[in-house]
Amino acid sequence: MKRKHSVAMAALMGLALTVSACGSDDGGDSAGDGGSSPSSSADGKIGVILPDTESSVRWESADRPALEAAFEDAGVEYDIQNAENDAERMTQIADSMIGSGVTVLAIVNLDSESGAAIQEKAASQGVATIDYDRLTLGGSAEYYVSFDNTVVGELQGQGLADCLGDKQANIVYLNGSPTDNNATLFAEGAHSVLDEMSNYKVVGEQAVPEWDNEEAATIFQQLYTAAKGKVDGVLAANDGLGGAAINILEGNGQAGKVPVTGQDATVEGLQNILAGTQCMTVYKSATQEAAALAEVAIALVNGEEAETTGTVEDVEGGRDVPAILLEPQSIMKDNINDVIEDGGQKAEDICTGEFQKLCADAGIS
Ligand code: BGC
Repeated sequence: MKRKHSVAMAALMGLALTVSACGSDDGGDSAGDGGSSPSSSADGKIGVILPDTESSVRWESADRPALEAAFEDAGVEYDIQNAENDAERMTQIADSMIGSGVTVLAIVNLDSESGAAIQEKAASQGVATIDYDRLTLGGSAEYYVSFDNTVVGELQGQGLADCLGDKQANIVYLNGSPTDNNATLFAEGAHSVLDEMSNYKVVGEQAVPEWDNEEAATIFQQLYTAAKGKVDGVLAANDGLGGAAINILEGNGQAGKVPVTGQDATVEGLQNILAGTQCMTVYKSATQEAAALAEVAIALVNGEEAETTGTVEDVEGGRDVPAILLEPQSIMKDNINDVIEDGGQKAEDICTGEFQKLCADAGIS
């Protein structure tokens, strides 16, 4: 992957936020919403299809509200739907969105094959497409909006190393879905850091189909047993997979002794960090990602070129996709406040019940 950390983002983020609000409700079609499109904004309609509700809570709890806010701020009509982990359903939603007149379609693919088919069909109907968060390999999206996913993996690897220290340590990897290109990049990034450290040994590694948290627990239990319980650290690709590993470690009296990584800065992940059962998570601002998507989508609607931070290589399609890659942030106990101050979570959601005291101790309010 080619990575360019440009400084275009700050300027970019500002652009989408200047037009008066008047987008339609999610799921709403444009009819009856008369007179809602300001001339300074886009006359088109943007469709977004989120992947599921369970591989991470982020899609419904962070992305959807952030996307709604971004589109409303930009004064553009939108329709956000969720494919509920069913690629056929995503195809049907795409068909109906195209039928209802969306001008730009953004998807978080469930796998590259179905994603590429959706994009091909959209293109044949004159609808421009954007890859949101996950790159569709062999796809035809005009733009890719995401975080630097290799860096996400590097932060996870570095975080685990920081929690483990210099000792000899056996590491188990719980990777994300094999059909998610991000999962490949996360694992590559983590390996690039940890493989350099000769005191660490990989004693188990497996991808979790569809990021399924329950299956992750079963897989982790198997890897743990195969390693005869000699596991000192867990590189889990997101907070859900991390939580699954923590449950199994708990059952073996090892929770809190074995550092576990995560991603998404979910309420559960942050609470686990406070409790000491999780070492770190990776924060990726949904507000930034959604605003970047809105910006790109509006440029497409207006037939303009969007500002990008560089390109990413689609190895399968053999092309460079213009991309906006945002910067992820590593979160440990001492900087949980960064997530809260940025609006990524609310202290009141994290600091409930037993976490009240842990929050106070960690200076979170
Ligand atoms: C996203 C992660 C998310 C995972 C599971 C990945 O593609 O980048 O933020 O945790 O999918 O939904």
